[in-house]
Amino acid sequence: MRKELTLSYEYFESWKELSEDDQELVNRALHVMDSAYAPYSNFKVGTSLRLSNKHIINGSNQENVAFPSGLCAERVALFYAGANYPDLSVSTLCVVASGDLLPQDKLLSPCGGCRQVMMETESRQGKNIRVILVSQNNSVVVFNNAKSLLPLAFGAE
Ligand code: THU
Repeated sequence: MRKELTLSYEYFESWKELSEDDQELVNRALHVMDSAYAPYSNFKVGTSLRLSNKHIINGSNQENVAFPSGLCAERVALFYAGANYPDLSVSTLCVVASGDLLPQDKLLSPCGGCRQVMMETESRQGKNIRVILVSQNNSVVVFNNAKSLLPLAFGAE
């Protein structure tokens, strides 16, 4: 028997087509990307997430000469949110990146570790996290939940 997994998302040619709230998140993610400390990869990533009380948390990737000690932008933001606002849920998370590593038309595709953390945040809070990924040429995809980014995931349940 053959089974298939489908991945569904919305696509927009420009993030300027998004709602005002979503555009604000993209702007904040682009802004925080400048604070990335990425001397080893020269690849800057910015994440902004909106909490259930509308508060926005930002994060950027932070590298270290002892490579595994660094952390991706998504986890910087998600762990900050978990540490400081443990009673609030994450409603939307946006990721942007810049660097020669990423062709202009390609979205930053969050790494497996970040997907795992997004998914567990989503399952702990019992509410979907919308995920917005933006390319350097401004195209954007929107996923309705984090779980769809990690099919067949190893889950806490
Ligand atoms: N990076 C992120 O911040 N998020 C991802 O989803 C993928 C990778 C960072 C880690 C490292 O600082 C740099 O990008 C190159 O891998």
